[in-house]
Amino acid sequence: MKIDRPHPKIGAIANDVDVRTLSDADWKSLYDAWLDSVVLVVRGQTLTIDDFLAYSRRFGRLKPHRVKKTRHADYPELTVMGLGTRKPDGKVDKTIYDRGGGWHTDSPWDTEICKGTQLYALAIPSIGGDTLFASMYEAYDALPDTLKKRIEGLKAEHAYGGRGRRGNELLDPEDRQRPPAVHPVVRTHEETGRKSLYANPYHILRFQGLAETESEALIDELAGHMTSTPAQYRHKWQVGDIVLWDNRCALHSATGSYPIDEKRIHWRTTIMQDPAEAQRAA
Ligand code: SIN
Repeated sequence: MKIDRPHPKIGAIANDVDVRTLSDADWKSLYDAWLDSVVLVVRGQTLTIDDFLAYSRRFGRLKPHRVKKTRHADYPELTVMGLGTRKPDGKVDKTIYDRGGGWHTDSPWDTEICKGTQLYALAIPSIGGDTLFASMYEAYDALPDTLKKRIEGLKAEHAYGGRGRRGNELLDPEDRQRPPAVHPVVRTHEETGRKSLYANPYHILRFQGLAETESEALIDELAGHMTSTPAQYRHKWQVGDIVLWDNRCALHSATGSYPIDEKRIHWRTTIMQDPAEAQRAA
């Protein structure tokens, strides 16, 4: 197995490895590379659904995604991304085509922390469709001290799709008005001990305890810092890639801009951090 690092702060790319037959030692090397690099790419895999789920489970407990309509009918822990970009009337279904666009971390609308998201590429368009990642460790470290002090102890409320409830149509009606989840804006990573920003420009509703205008202004200010960090990695997909990112310390954004009638299909798993695991790591 060979692991390359395209950037010193973010991204690790593993080649010459088959995740179906990984030894414990190689798996630990991948896991450590992921913790160090925030985003782990494993190239060149040929997987069945069972293989992908088994590999995903090595990282933690899988949770069926709140969006029920894109869950695989026989494997609820598997979401299928990118199917149905055109509606039956031929119009583009933007909720599918644009899904994952806009800087965000996954599942901050859940009260339990989503440790990682893993995508496996089944079909990739000839151009476009890249995914961007940004390190929220680096974004936090680069904040001015005055801003670090201002946000210390602050908590934010998150709901699916944030203030605009974007993509809410993907949810079943009973899931559209769930109460927001509250998380600290500065979080300490349970496994690395590093601090990162967890404010999520896309899914955030407000900062608790601030007036609406102050909260809105702070969302914009922090979003500027989060998305302008130079610690970014742009993934250009190949069929057979597995990409895993650490939602505890990264933002990501699908970039879209691919031909609508070309396929961009991924399997996706949502990997949770169990409280016991978080405690053990701490
Ligand atoms: C996601 O945000 O879960 C998907 C990202 C992508 O499709 O590139």
